[in-house]
Amino acid sequence: MPDLCGIPLAHPVLNASGTYDAIAARRVFGDALLEDFPFAAFVSKTITPEPRAGNAPRRIWETPAGMINSIGLPNKGLEGFLVEDLPQLAELPVPLVVSVMATGREEFVRLVEAVGAREEVAAIELNVSCPNVHSGLIVGEQPSETVALLQALRPLTAKPLIVKLTPNVADPAAVAIAAEEGGADAVSLINTLKASAFDPASGEPALAAGHGGLSGPAVRPIALQQLRAVTAAVSVPAIGMGGICDGADAAEFLAAGASLVAVGTESFRDPGAGSRIAAELETARPGTLRV
Ligand SMILES: Cc1cc2nc3c(=O)[nH]c(=O)nc-3n(C[C@H](O)[C@H](O)[C@H](O)COP(=O)(O)O)c2cc1C
Repeated sequence: MPDLCGIPLAHPVLNASGTYDAIAARRVFGDALLEDFPFAAFVSKTITPEPRAGNAPRRIWETPAGMINSIGLPNKGLEGFLVEDLPQLAELPVPLVVSVMATGREEFVRLVEAVGAREEVAAIELNVSCPNVHSGLIVGEQPSETVALLQALRPLTAKPLIVKLTPNVADPAAVAIAAEEGGADAVSLINTLKASAFDPASGEPALAAGHGGLSGPAVRPIALQQLRAVTAAVSVPAIGMGGICDGADAAEFLAAGASLVAVGTESFRDPGAGSRIAAELETARPGTLRV
């Protein structure tokens, strides 16, 4: 039976943070959603210490075999999440992973202390694709920043800490090694790749923020290579994601070293993708990969 840092899971397919709104899905599908929940564990959208409105529209742009988003992490902030969302997410029939992000170590400490103290939460994912306000450096782009952050957070909770790696570095394995050294229990990868598009009608940047992050099938071969490099370098388990659309894709990620997989962009097209891919995976184990 697959597991998430020792937490037993019904199958190896999770959602990728920010790509499946379980609270909205419950409103649409009612309690039927709980009876046939698509994922073996649920990862929340990233929360930040204070509420964020996100970026101005346009925030999504379709590309060949993918999409660029510049959503900008809109969320209710820590208090809003704990009061409004956590009780609803706790009703899901699967373990809950809460994704957190902050721009300073003190703020990260606040998030991990508050979220880690809640028994409804099984594990915490650290979204480190954010600048440190003190150094100006993106934490997840610097092994030294990553290890220092983990060393500050590790003593605060006994819950598993998963570090979500950014693909926007020359050497993701070096950052994964730093996360492991700092006491991370697992890594997850990949987050979106920095990307731009221009609106052919106007010649202006397609996204109001100017740039965004690419996801979907277009990123899959890059995700697989980064996964190979990372899993060769660390012994903690890796959750692999990036363009997974079916069981054969998921099997490739397992073949590349992932212990679990996560589905992101595909859930926008097929909200039942999680359980479909878990079922397809049963017949698409490595050795039976699509050719
Ligand atoms: C609309 C959208 C919102 C996202 N929001 C988050 C987020 O809040 N936190 C996070 O760590 N990653 C976020 N991601 C990145 C995904 O979790 C995932 O790492 C990435 O999209 C690659 O997987 P995919 O190709 O299957 O979508 C988001 C991606 C998309 C497309």
